[in-house]
Amino acid sequence: VPKIPFLHPNSPKLSEARDALREIEHSGVLSNYGPVNTRLEREILESMFDGRGACLTVCNATTGLMMAIKHCTGEARAPRRYALMPSFTFAAPAHAAIWCGLTPLFCDIDPHDWAASEAAERELLDRYGEEVAVVVPYATFGNCIDLKRYEKLAAEYGVAVVIDAAASLGSICEDGFGFGTGCPFPIVYSMHATKAFATTEAGLIYCTDVDAVNELRAMANFGFAGKRVAMMPGLNGKLNEITALMALLKLKELASSVEHRTKIATLYSKELPELTFQQVSGRRHAFMFVSVLLPAELAGPRPEVLRRLAADGVEARTYFSPHVAEQPYFHGRSLSGDLTVTNDVACRILSLPLSDFITEEQVHIVCAALRNALA
Ligand SMILES: Cc1ncc(COP(=O)(O)O)c(C=O)c1O
Repeated sequence: VPKIPFLHPNSPKLSEARDALREIEHSGVLSNYGPVNTRLEREILESMFDGRGACLTVCNATTGLMMAIKHCTGEARAPRRYALMPSFTFAAPAHAAIWCGLTPLFCDIDPHDWAASEAAERELLDRYGEEVAVVVPYATFGNCIDLKRYEKLAAEYGVAVVIDAAASLGSICEDGFGFGTGCPFPIVYSMHATKAFATTEAGLIYCTDVDAVNELRAMANFGFAGKRVAMMPGLNGKLNEITALMALLKLKELASSVEHRTKIATLYSKELPELTFQQVSGRRHAFMFVSVLLPAELAGPRPEVLRRLAADGVEARTYFSPHVAEQPYFHGRSLSGDLTVTNDVACRILSLPLSDFITEEQVHIVCAALRNALA
């Protein structure tokens, strides 16, 4: 029975970058925004974001979200107490909000692209008004969401915005630029090993507001500004030089990796026309995995479907089920609006294997195993 893993990280080959590693060792600069981080930020800005604005490396996206939320909400004081976000996401943005002294306020998603629904966001913004400190949309599974919509929301409601684009580094919009280009709000990307842009642990914050990025840089360095004296809320959010080198190596191979993932995702949708796929927009997607919705009558038996797939050597998952509002830690520490679509999507979702290594032949095996499991 072939074993097809759900994910198979393709981290860059540090073992083949001995000269660059020696250079880092020789320089004695291992962190604190050394030359490798500086080069990485410059190359990402030029190659993905049209050279507009600025970006900042961070040690992981969760820390990046904490920093960005803290930066735009300050000392969270009443009445601004809520961080509005979809519940169909990972636990990280909800944790980040709580670390910033805010309460997650979960909204429903769109049934087609599985990102926060505009009507649901507006309903909660109208209901809670000035109590909402920040809106934290998620670009679901690397999709290119409509960022102009958040410029309108920010102007209308006077609310801050931080975009969680954990899986989107490498996604390209219809205009040919990387997802996020030109965005005035901080956008936080992950370069975790499980993402298409795989390193070990790393993240990136991008935005057109260069002053905000400079302040975030100081925040990530203990809140030191100029002298080594804390001038603002701070933590240690810096990325080390060795992981920055991995990211530079990844940047070179990213296009072929994302193209392969896109081709595989297209093949899945051709092979499984009977299932519902996420509606995606943009030119290229840095897919992490491929998600489908099972028919409603198979939501209950989903554990059995997973068992049958496993018996055929296929590892599948259920991102994001349970969704965040369902997770015990957030009970009593969050509020939710109506989550009808979220509950429906979460209980039917099935996430299928994807990696830089998966072959078309393996996709046929996965699809045959899935059809067999559903029969
Ligand atoms: C939606 C979302 N936000 C944030 C994160 C956090 O990223 P990191 O692991 O780099 O902290 C993840 C991680 O997978 C994620 O899926």
